Amino acid sequence: MLQLAVVLPTYNERSNIALMAQRIEAALQGFVWEVIFVDDNSPDGTADEARRLAREDPRIRVIERIGRRGLASAAIEGMCASAAPVVAVMDADGQHDPALLPGMYAAVTSGDYDVAYASRFAEGASTEAWGRPDRVKASGFANAIARRVTGVDLSDPMSGFFMLHGETLRADAHRLSGVGFKILLDILATVDRPLRVKEFPLNFAARMTGESKLDRTVVFEFLIGLYDKWLGRIIPTRFALFGTVGAMGAVVHMAVLAVVLHMFGARFAVSHYPKEAAFIVGQTLAAFTAMSFNFVLNNELTYSDKRLRGVFPILRGWLKFFLTCAFGMLANIGVSTALVRVGIHPYTAAIAGIVLASVWNFALSSKFVWGKYG
Ligand code: GDD
Ligand code: MN
Repeated sequence: MLQLAVVLPTYNERSNIALMAQRIEAALQGFVWEVIFVDDNSPDGTADEARRLAREDPRIRVIERIGRRGLASAAIEGMCASAAPVVAVMDADGQHDPALLPGMYAAVTSGDYDVAYASRFAEGASTEAWGRPDRVKASGFANAIARRVTGVDLSDPMSGFFMLHGETLRADAHRLSGVGFKILLDILATVDRPLRVKEFPLNFAARMTGESKLDRTVVFEFLIGLYDKWLGRIIPTRFALFGTVGAMGAVVHMAVLAVVLHMFGARFAVSHYPKEAAFIVGQTLAAFTAMSFNFVLNNELTYSDKRLRGVFPILRGWLKFFLTCAFGMLANIGVSTALVRVGIHPYTAAIAGIVLASVWNFALSSKFVWGKYG
């Protein structure tokens, strides 16, 4: 009978996964196990390499996701794809030691614990080999905030190496945010009843090969994850990001307009309305710049999991985004004008127009620019 599934989310780990599978096999002698690689269509061909391993050993399986990114959602999908009663998640780059798996399995199946996890900061753990004092510091900070916010009191709630009963996960899988990378923390903070957690000190190794995917975004994703847990149900995280980017776009707009008015105000002067020509040029240029700025930022941040890549997709997305915003602007002007006509104060009307346009832009661009079928 199948006992344990080990889920390995991968992104550009082609040269690491064969050795990883070997190490897991060696550690799990005597167990009935399966390994599930969840790859987000890595450009280095990790999924092909995983399929090669899977052909040689049917205990190895591959889930390849197209047009999606994200460690947490990959882990969730991997765990939900297994019939094994107990599921584990670990990094595929060799930083997590598979030798801990049997002990974790014993803890989870003993009945004394619901979750077993490997901590980089527990008594007896080490992070020296990692060679990243900056990340150790950042993790310490993030862990402290996480403890405050969620009340989850572990030495390393950000750990990406843990094990639990598949049932426990599935019961609340629909309530997990799937955003970012802090999946263990998310599980512990989401499940209503307190879970009994057993901690295993981990000697966090250096990567076998390749580079970290979380380095650049780890702080941003962490903050996004916290927001998602806190306020995500009131104002959805993506909309909040979209709105923030939009507000930054408004600042860019004003800056460009100011520059144009300042530089060309005199030159564009025409008799009666000295600054009108400059204003029109400025407005057009500003709207164009702000819109492009918003497109790039939304592509990088708001829709980082569906990021458009390559010259053609980006140009196409940018054009669609432009069209969406143009319609949004028309709606904005139409509605605010109508409101003014019925006696609403112009500023109130303007704000109503802006809110309407943002919701419109968000709904349309999320479907047509970054959506699956766009
Ligand atoms: N499918 C998928 N999609 N896998 C991903 C993605 C993604 O978008 N991003 C990263 N991974 C995979 C990597 O290929 C690797 O197997 C694992 O997730 C961890 O990613 P790393 O890029 O190696 O992260 P790290 O070593 O910098 O981060 C460590 O610390 C984090 C907390 O600070 C890891 O131990 C993380 O698991 C941990 O959450
Ligand atoms: Mn790593």
